[in-house]
Amino acid sequence: MSDSPVPANPAPPPQPAAAGGAPILSVRDLAIRFRTADGTVTAAADVGFDIRAGEIVGLVGESGSGKSQILMSLMGLLASNGHASGSAVFRGEEILNAPARRLDALRGASMSMIFQDPMTSLNPYLRVSTQLVEVLERHRGMTRAEAMAQALAIMESVRIPDAARRIRLYPHEFSGGMRQRVMIAMALLCRPALLLADEPTTALDVTVQAQILELIADLARSIGTAVLFVTHDLGVVARLCDRVIVLYGGRIMESGEATDIFGDPKHPYTRGLIDSTPRLDERSHGELRTIPGQPRAAQLAPMGCPFEPRCPHRVVRCRTERPAPQEAGLRQLACHEVRL
Ligand SMILES: Nc1ncnc2c1ncn2[C@@H]1O[C@H](COP(=O)(O)OP(=O)(O)OP(=O)(O)O)[C@@H](O)[C@H]1O
Ligand code: SF4
Ligand SMILES: [Mg+2]
Repeated sequence: MSDSPVPANPAPPPQPAAAGGAPILSVRDLAIRFRTADGTVTAAADVGFDIRAGEIVGLVGESGSGKSQILMSLMGLLASNGHASGSAVFRGEEILNAPARRLDALRGASMSMIFQDPMTSLNPYLRVSTQLVEVLERHRGMTRAEAMAQALAIMESVRIPDAARRIRLYPHEFSGGMRQRVMIAMALLCRPALLLADEPTTALDVTVQAQILELIADLARSIGTAVLFVTHDLGVVARLCDRVIVLYGGRIMESGEATDIFGDPKHPYTRGLIDSTPRLDERSHGELRTIPGQPRAAQLAPMGCPFEPRCPHRVVRCRTERPAPQEAGLRQLACHEVRL
């Protein structure tokens, strides 16, 4: 028997993070555009990163910086006026704009997503037990009794008290925090190789949000699932993530190992974020506060550095020339004025 809190099932568990192992997900030149009545909105551009098995990667940036749309494009769930270009290779297979049937087979089985709003992935008209059992019957070919036993075990592993009774409830009968836990149970049910986790709804208080993110990280580590984590809570990122990607105006400003980024932030935007976060120690919740100036809509920054209007270090060319990404080891930085 495994000592993992998530019950065993016939799927081979993903390999734990091996130093220098092949990436489980490789994203290159990802751009996301939406057609609107006012023209094209570019929600993300030139986005590239790798995630290895078992790694937890935090995606941070202010509201509107493109975090959710990056996750949605990887799952093939962009709104109908949206289009993604570039490449996203998951376990050797191109998934960006892959056929709907193929994405259906991957979603929920080898890659899954936790949404900002739990009701996005829960059916309000079905009991939680029915929803969990159906996934296991469909993706794992289990009998009803096997699926029910496993569904109950996963409810217990996400620490839902009195799981045997509550599993028979409908989603609306759970509190906000408990509903998030049900969604985590649903997302991890098939021990996915990759989990895309958008932050829990902001309706939850910060302590509950942080607990939920910690729970996701614990479970993911125990089953070797790679996680791409969206959150506003820099304290959680500093505590839980192996690597961090800092997004601004749909572009990556800086990325690298969490200890390097928090120990020695280089990009003026990252420095602004960290400086405006009260305390990043063990107990605090480092809510990502805004820094002076308004975020610039990506569609208004066709050239130059998106952070230019708010940057205390800007020089003339920042307005017209996009900084080329500098790379050193696992660290990346896009800035004219700061060197790695
Ligand atoms: N269907 C759509 N049509 C037009 N623009 C859209 C659509 N969906 C998203 N956008 C735009 O894409 C940009 C990025 O949105 P996204 O939801 O990824 O932001 P976010 O970083 O997740 O923000 P938050 O922290 O508030 O969740 C925003 O400017 C948003 O208005
Ligand atoms: S490229 Fe220029 S505007 Fe952008 S962060 Fe660097 S110094 Fe600031
Ligand atoms: Mg979002």
